[in-house]
Amino acid sequence: MDDWEDAEWYRDAVIYEVSVRTFMDGDGDGIGDFAGLTARLDHLADLGVTAIWLLPFYPSPLRDDGYDIADYTSVHPDYGDLAQVRSFIAEAHRRGLRVITELVLNHTSDQHAWFQRARRAPPGSAHRNWYVWSDTPDRYRDARIIFRDFEDSNWSWDDVAGAWFWHRFYSHQPDLNFDEPRVGRALLDIVDFWLEAGVDGLRLDAIPYLYEREGTSSENLPETHGFIRQLRRHVDEHFPGRMLLAEANQWPQDAVAYFGAGDECHMAFHFPLMPRLYMALGLADRQPILDILARTPDLPASAQWAIFLRNHDELTLEMVSDDERSYMRRRYAPDPRASLNLGIRRRLAPLMDGDRARLELMNGLLFSLPGTPVVYYGDEIGMGDDLDLPDRFGVRTPMQWDAGPNAGFSTAPVEQLCLPVISAGAYGYQAVNVAAQRADPGSLLSWMKRLIALRKDHPGFGRGSLRFLEPAEPAVLAYLREHDGEVLLVVANLSPQPLQTALPLGDHAGSALVDLLTATGLPPVGTDLYPLHLAGHGFRWLRLEDGPA
Ligand code: GLC
Repeated sequence: MDDWEDAEWYRDAVIYEVSVRTFMDGDGDGIGDFAGLTARLDHLADLGVTAIWLLPFYPSPLRDDGYDIADYTSVHPDYGDLAQVRSFIAEAHRRGLRVITELVLNHTSDQHAWFQRARRAPPGSAHRNWYVWSDTPDRYRDARIIFRDFEDSNWSWDDVAGAWFWHRFYSHQPDLNFDEPRVGRALLDIVDFWLEAGVDGLRLDAIPYLYEREGTSSENLPETHGFIRQLRRHVDEHFPGRMLLAEANQWPQDAVAYFGAGDECHMAFHFPLMPRLYMALGLADRQPILDILARTPDLPASAQWAIFLRNHDELTLEMVSDDERSYMRRRYAPDPRASLNLGIRRRLAPLMDGDRARLELMNGLLFSLPGTPVVYYGDEIGMGDDLDLPDRFGVRTPMQWDAGPNAGFSTAPVEQLCLPVISAGAYGYQAVNVAAQRADPGSLLSWMKRLIALRKDHPGFGRGSLRFLEPAEPAVLAYLREHDGEVLLVVANLSPQPLQTALPLGDHAGSALVDLLTATGLPPVGTDLYPLHLAGHGFRWLRLEDGPA
């Protein structure tokens, strides 16, 4: 399904997250750019994804890889210019691909003209008030520190202003002050700028932290939701059909608040589900997934979760208990260099020990659990990570296109590359690259293409209801997705051992079963428990079809 006119297009989407900087270098300077990205749109169209989420590409000192924005309505010269962004959007649209960009509302770079003006403006003046200042670093003590490996306070001293300023992330990222109404208006102008340029959706970065209030955690405050409602009204009025996606790393009951009553964001990431997919696999037990989805409230009618296995950040372990975090670290980050802040800075393939069955299983869940799947660039070919790089750069290395110099990413001399390509070991570009996998029908890339195509053929995966079956074996995760008369059944074996399960499908007695991945029929459903064999880490996508009356 890809109905360009459908205002709820995001519910059927398959989103591909990409960094312009490390995808493809079009001008040979060692840095990815819009020319390169545009030239590689066919890879994305061929993969079958329907929307491209671009990491920040604006002018920036790049001390947080571009999330430190110095100018919201222009393009970092490394990546090209506005004309090239416009042509990228047009070329993406021509191929039926939507474009989602970043809207970083919470903070700017300290190099932004607004901050430069604020720090020099008289205390108490309107210009000073664009940011959050204080005479003491003692306010808002109940707000946690997010980048705890790098910062020990949310306040930093500014010599120019002679005052402390507030920042939830790096100290070079001062938080904007949403109590100053001009800030909100300036940000709506930026929204207009990009939506007029044809952008289809905006990811609202770090959205829970817009306001701060004494005696609270300064997260998820009613004032923050008020601003999002204002933003949504503005978008609906001027740009109907465009989408807002909340990045709110919160427990389900707090994350769901970002949909409001259908009057805030259209989408929000389901952060707590993500680590539980890894836990369920590691423990060969479906319970972590069942528990978190049981704790997940129903959504307003047109709302949709965005679900993911990995992204450009560390695999965050904020939304788990201390015991669960210790388990995740023992199981998935035995090398201490892999831990960062509260999470794990590794890519999907190494997390799965390069094991094909587990990679397929995890993607099989990503593409069939409720929500819109988000694939992180490079994970479609099983790229690895580089723990020698600092911060989160180890999971942001250049895309591996072929076995030629620099993995086909750039024609620049190797020492000029913005980040080193992974060039040794099992994940080196000689072994893992797009060209080789495109030529191989048995490759992970070819398999991902088939999975994505199947997902798009069956809108129930994006829109269907969810009902878990609970067979006797804890390692079996089984659920029904129903939509518009179609019944889909997903059955996954979370354990490495093959097993035989028996599913309570009595409600559907008389139905025929078709295996969607192999396009073969199975014996019809009877009134007894339905026996099904699963390979170790195997999974099936089945469709129940009404039998003869
Ligand atoms: C979000 C981004 C992350 C960035 C942070 C601060 O969490 O995903 O990469 O560092 O916001 O902007």
